[in-house]
Amino acid sequence: MVFLRVFRFLLTLYLFAAVLYTTECFLLSPFRSGLSFVVSRRAPRLALWSTSSFNSLLPKRSSQDPYSVSDSAALLEGSSDVIHWPSSAYALQNGLGHEKPVAMSEDLFLSKAFAGAMRPSKIVPFFYRATGVFDKEDITITTLVTSNRFQVFAGLVERYPGPISVTIHVNNGTDDVHELLDSLHMLYLSSPKMASNVDVHLVIDAFDRQFNTWRNIARFFARTDFVMMLDIDFSPCTDFRAALRASPAAMAQLRTGAAAFVVPAFEYPKHTDGIDEARFPRSKAALVALVRAGKLGMFHASWGPGHGATDYDRYYAAPPGEMYKVTAYQSAYEPYVIFKKDGPPWCDERFVGYGGNKAACLFEMYLSGISYYVLADHFLIHQNHLYEESARRTERKYNHKIYSNFKEEACLRYLKYFRDTRMLNTTRGSNVQGECKKIRSIARIAAQFTDGA
Ligand SMILES: *[C@@H]1O[C@H](CO)[C@@H](O)[C@H](O)[C@H]1NC(C)=O
Ligand SMILES: *[C@@H]1O[C@H](CO)[C@@H](O)[C@H](O)[C@H]1NC(C)=O
Repeated sequence: MVFLRVFRFLLTLYLFAAVLYTTECFLLSPFRSGLSFVVSRRAPRLALWSTSSFNSLLPKRSSQDPYSVSDSAALLEGSSDVIHWPSSAYALQNGLGHEKPVAMSEDLFLSKAFAGAMRPSKIVPFFYRATGVFDKEDITITTLVTSNRFQVFAGLVERYPGPISVTIHVNNGTDDVHELLDSLHMLYLSSPKMASNVDVHLVIDAFDRQFNTWRNIARFFARTDFVMMLDIDFSPCTDFRAALRASPAAMAQLRTGAAAFVVPAFEYPKHTDGIDEARFPRSKAALVALVRAGKLGMFHASWGPGHGATDYDRYYAAPPGEMYKVTAYQSAYEPYVIFKKDGPPWCDERFVGYGGNKAACLFEMYLSGISYYVLADHFLIHQNHLYEESARRTERKYNHKIYSNFKEEACLRYLKYFRDTRMLNTTRGSNVQGECKKIRSIARIAAQFTDGA
């Protein structure tokens, strides 16, 4: 009899658990994820960014873990994976248009938008979309994060009060995609600033370190007129965002698209000093004192061309409020800059891996006629960490060769551009004139272009 009673008790317990489980699985959990789908993915007017084929990238997961967040990916599956191209307003007005727009798949559109990237690759724009509404003239930090840098990224989000557009790469050849999406979800829920300020764009493929493609993606989907190109391991120590936005002169320069503002970069030579950003100086006076004491210095002091053109001596001596022009530009310069999202050239996507990638972005911007100005009250400090040295060495060699080819091509293209638009002798054409004469292999062609200008 006792046996029967225990059995009945167990049966009741089992039924109760089963009802709970089913309710969670089939009723509550889709409802919850569906809700977040509606809230976070409002469709823009023309393009509807969605993730219909996203689920096919994920390995089938066992049903052991019904509470796992990445199951919500299944709910993103929809049939509207398209961009619509309506007839022109002109044709419609003149009775020649079609009411029904032409549809194109989002994947096709993105494969052309980032045509230099390696394939196959899946780009998921606005995987998470911030709830914040941003002023058009705000400055969005655009950056890249890999799974091992999530904590550093969380620090940046706490520090920077404005919008952030981040590309997160998931290597589906080596990472456990579900596990990574779970920890990304945790990260996104970890702070209210994440949900209000950060748009996350995913790239899923087998290719590590496609930095320039990832930079372009973060910029392409930024929702403000101005962006800052920043590496994740830099801590913004001063409020350059508020300072620029409060300066009508600086904002007017940004709007022309012909100016980019440099926020100078610093580094602690002693590795352990540079780990905890809570101890970094927050004012220029404190920074300069640390520099005088030999505890802090320019970023990558051993590689002068990278940041030397910022002219650190001039920076230390500059009076408050100054923004001075970079006059010693050379082609390895790779400062962190704030510029107009739409207009300046994009980063060349042929660079994969360490070396030359960021310098290439800044080189082409410079050739296009952009002047760099240093914000003399502001600074960033590198958060020290260990690098993958062996990958860096081989990739640097390979990118060194690509960079020299790239410089020749870019010069020829911009010489032609400025000649055809009759701007070679103007202020905007002066960068290309000065810089391209330095490249021996094309000096003669460059001279022919400029003499005949
Ligand atoms: C990784 O993603 C790419 C991009 O869509 C896909 O073509 C490829 O099959 C995936 N590889 C694996 C191992 O899942
Ligand atoms: C441009 O400047 C060069 C060098 O000063 C000069 O020879 C050339 O005539 C100028 N061209 C025009 C169109 O002003």
